[in-house]
Amino acid sequence: MCVALRVQGLRKTFRVKSGRLVQVVEAIREMDFEVREGEVFTLLGPSGCGKTTTLRCIAGLEDPDEGEVEIGGVTVFSKTRSISVSPEKRGIGMVFQNYSVWPHMSVFENVAYPLRAKGVPKDELVRRVRWALSLVKLDGLEDRPATRLSGGQQQRVALARAIVSEPKVLLLDEPLSNLDAKVREELRDELRHLLRSMNIATVYVTHDQLEAFVMSDRIGLMSEGELLEVGDPVQTYFRPRTKFGAEFLGSANVLEGELLPDGTVDTRIGKIVVESRDPTLDHGKVYVVFRSESVDLDLTGTCSGTTNAFAGTVREKKFLGDRWELSVEVSGVILRVSLPSRVNVATGSRVCVRIDPALCSLVRK
Ligand SMILES: Nc1ncnc2c1ncn2[C@@H]1O[C@H](COP(=O)(O)OP(=O)(O)OP(=O)(O)O)[C@@H](O)[C@H]1O
Ligand SMILES: [Mg+2]
Repeated sequence: MCVALRVQGLRKTFRVKSGRLVQVVEAIREMDFEVREGEVFTLLGPSGCGKTTTLRCIAGLEDPDEGEVEIGGVTVFSKTRSISVSPEKRGIGMVFQNYSVWPHMSVFENVAYPLRAKGVPKDELVRRVRWALSLVKLDGLEDRPATRLSGGQQQRVALARAIVSEPKVLLLDEPLSNLDAKVREELRDELRHLLRSMNIATVYVTHDQLEAFVMSDRIGLMSEGELLEVGDPVQTYFRPRTKFGAEFLGSANVLEGELLPDGTVDTRIGKIVVESRDPTLDHGKVYVVFRSESVDLDLTGTCSGTTNAFAGTVREKKFLGDRWELSVEVSGVILRVSLPSRVNVATGSRVCVRIDPALCSLVRK
């Protein structure tokens, strides 16, 4: 598969004046990534980490301080070579975070806009607008004023407008975040099918981890203007490579420890065996990471003879509908443990906590 988008050494700072002071905001410290044709690559990270700025730099709506952007093998931005192709010539389609449709136009005109700007002949324009509207399941609503649509339908219009020019790269900035939970889930699944069928490269931005897991081939975790780690959803979830990844995703236990020459990790709850680890980690201070659902509880409390088995007491429990989330105290440390909601265990119970060595990972401290 060909690389459709390459971002190299991207940096962007903003200067914000307040009174006589100028504050420098480092929105992107360093970003390097590639997205292949047909791939959905998600930038996932907390508010303010630089996701929108990254998309705007790719689209040509922001001028980066440094770096290069290549789309379909063509350099569209290079600081050192003084290249900056205008946004409409970059071969991208974008759905913006905050506004979606132009209220003074019909559905048809909203979607036709990028084609009109390019001077596409009328017959072809009509054909392509109908094609895009049918892909997002809005056939028949061409003449409706764009404001007379539900939130979900407005996002479909924005999406149709982004794909109508058949871009090489699609940039989607939190396209579902303004919708209510049910519509969001529906549109998320449809969007997933649509992106899979279109074979274009997509950069998908969200701060919602579930959305990132469902949509993505690969996830890039972002914090403070940097990509900290990139991996497929399952690997990113179960084997985070950074402490940030471990703490940002799901409900994890992160225990400080000392990696010993025999490969076990000495922690406050005892020695933990970890099945596989990055070979460059051979000793020293580390974090052992395991998910709350990677822990089994033996409710009889028997704890002898097995690997990674520790006696504990249930201190607190929360009902989350599909599961219980328990706080279990082991040697003064509180571990997070999830249990299916059909299992019931009383607060104060003595239990044995078993941590699967195959589901533990190590992160350098
Ligand atoms: N035009 C601007 N002028 C000054 N600072 C800006 C500007 N745009 C963004 N920033 C700052 O750059 C940083 C990154 O902002 P950005 O909008 O890229 O974050 P984000 O990850 O998209 O956040 P969110 O999830 O809230 O949309 C923030 O600190 C933000 O305040
Ligand atoms: Mg944003």
